Amino acid sequence: MKILIRIAVTVLVFQQLFAAQPAVYGTHGVVVAHDRESCDAGIEILKAGGNAVDAAVAVSYALAVTYPQAGNLGGGGFMLIQMADGRSMAIDYREMAPEGATRDMFLEDSGKVSETKSIRGGLASGVPGTVAGMQLALDTYGTLSRKRVMKPAIRLAAKGFHVSYGLASSLNWLNREAVAFPETRRIFCRDGDLYQPGDRFKQADLARTLKRIQKQGNAGFYRGEVAEAVVQSISETGGHMSLDDLRSYKAVLREPLRGEYRGYSILSMPPPSSGGLALISMLNMLEPMSFDSVGWHSADQIHSLAEVEKRAYADRSSWLGDPDHFEVPVAELLSKPYAKLRMMDYDSTYASPSDSVYPLNDSELATIRALQGESEETTHFSVVDQWGNAVSVTTTLNHPYGSFVTVPGFGFLMNNEMDDFSAKPGVPNSYGLIGGEANAIEPGKRMLSSMTPTIVSRDGKAFLVLGSPGGATIITSVLQVIHNVIDYDMSLQEAVNAPRFHHQWKPDDIQYGPRAISTDTELRLQAMGHELSLRAAYGEVNAIMLDDRFGGWIAAPDYRRAAQAVAY
Ligand code: GLY
Repeated sequence: MKILIRIAVTVLVFQQLFAAQPAVYGTHGVVVAHDRESCDAGIEILKAGGNAVDAAVAVSYALAVTYPQAGNLGGGGFMLIQMADGRSMAIDYREMAPEGATRDMFLEDSGKVSETKSIRGGLASGVPGTVAGMQLALDTYGTLSRKRVMKPAIRLAAKGFHVSYGLASSLNWLNREAVAFPETRRIFCRDGDLYQPGDRFKQADLARTLKRIQKQGNAGFYRGEVAEAVVQSISETGGHMSLDDLRSYKAVLREPLRGEYRGYSILSMPPPSSGGLALISMLNMLEPMSFDSVGWHSADQIHSLAEVEKRAYADRSSWLGDPDHFEVPVAELLSKPYAKLRMMDYDSTYASPSDSVYPLNDSELATIRALQGESEETTHFSVVDQWGNAVSVTTTLNHPYGSFVTVPGFGFLMNNEMDDFSAKPGVPNSYGLIGGEANAIEPGKRMLSSMTPTIVSRDGKAFLVLGSPGGATIITSVLQVIHNVIDYDMSLQEAVNAPRFHHQWKPDDIQYGPRAISTDTELRLQAMGHELSLRAAYGEVNAIMLDDRFGGWIAAPDYRRAAQAVAY
């Protein structure tokens, strides 16, 4: 927990120095992402005739160059696609536990969970999925060649780009934190010769790695010299990953989850993310409530959302995991009867203590079946093209700079995603999230995620494309932006920039960002039985929305991390 608190404070300091970029409007193509260079990479591909999937692959590779905190080759993510012709698909390129992983690998001899092993060094890394995911996206929905879509990223790595204020601050933080990782300091911190905003940052090793992938595809990363260097660097920093682990990694096409909220269709990410399921189940719980006369961020609104969030996160702890290793009751948790049953003990005037909100038990699950009659570092970007194809991507190394392990000679960082597993049932991970059997470590299993790339549609057409970084808070950030737009009729930029709050069942408190809750509202919530705690600003909801007035697209970057948007 200690490491995460330090990361959160660091992120806050960087964020507050940034200026916000306002929303942009375009009719041909829009990209909203963490930085200008990555947006430009996507726009370049759209202007070259590529579709939103081609552009998303270009943005993803560009972020691997310009945003080493979270953009990646050594990590993973999820891509949600909705094509204008009605096809939709979720691409799962989540990292996977290596074959040598064991259930208790992060326990000390005393039985306590190690504070560092799942966070720093080789043991923290899962088998990376990004390169395989990008290839699968291109093979399935792309229209341009890999050679073309990777060009902007290779150019950014070889020729360099100007370091922003935020990146300079962050790299200098890394310089202090990564003393035990000399290759990371060599590549990203000039061995302590600190970066200034405006310096040019070139990455020759990474450019060579990208060219290898451009030429050979998956084989250029999962086999040969890159794979050998990954295996060696993981082993030298205390972990174990084999050539076989890399060779056998596969990105997976999955059916997206679908829900309905007040006439809008919701498309979101299925397991191994918990995001889509928790989001849709929370919307189902909110739907019977009317917010017409409930003030925005009034005690009553915050209470309703916190109670809904508590229940969804309780079930996340017991029932969510990799569907290839654990039978996740997807249909049940997505159903309206589930939402109804879950809210039966909801009291609109008083908080249910988290200790009395139990995860759903087997007999309740059976009841729902009977009622149904059947069956803090990640990054998000959104892309829409001239044909109305929409892509929503969340990708991550987990914490900023992942495990801090840079693969020598190849210039990229490995993730620390193993911390998203439940190292010991009932013991929280670095996001304070509690997991159980469903998310226990097993070789070849994908760790549970909260990433929630989502597309909301109206009358069969993409209307709102969004997602966020933020670990456990991702799902509630996405929920609140949808709720702000649909229930409070906010413009997209207002909805994105609005202060947010978060409840994740345990700890039993409403965590709120700066200016999210006034003192008198806080007192009312306390009188209703809630505990509250102030936290640093969190999330970066980079969203695109259909513009009703002129029929184009509005892209709204989140001011919290100085995100950017470009449209034409
Ligand atoms: N690494 C954060 C998540 O996947 O939820």
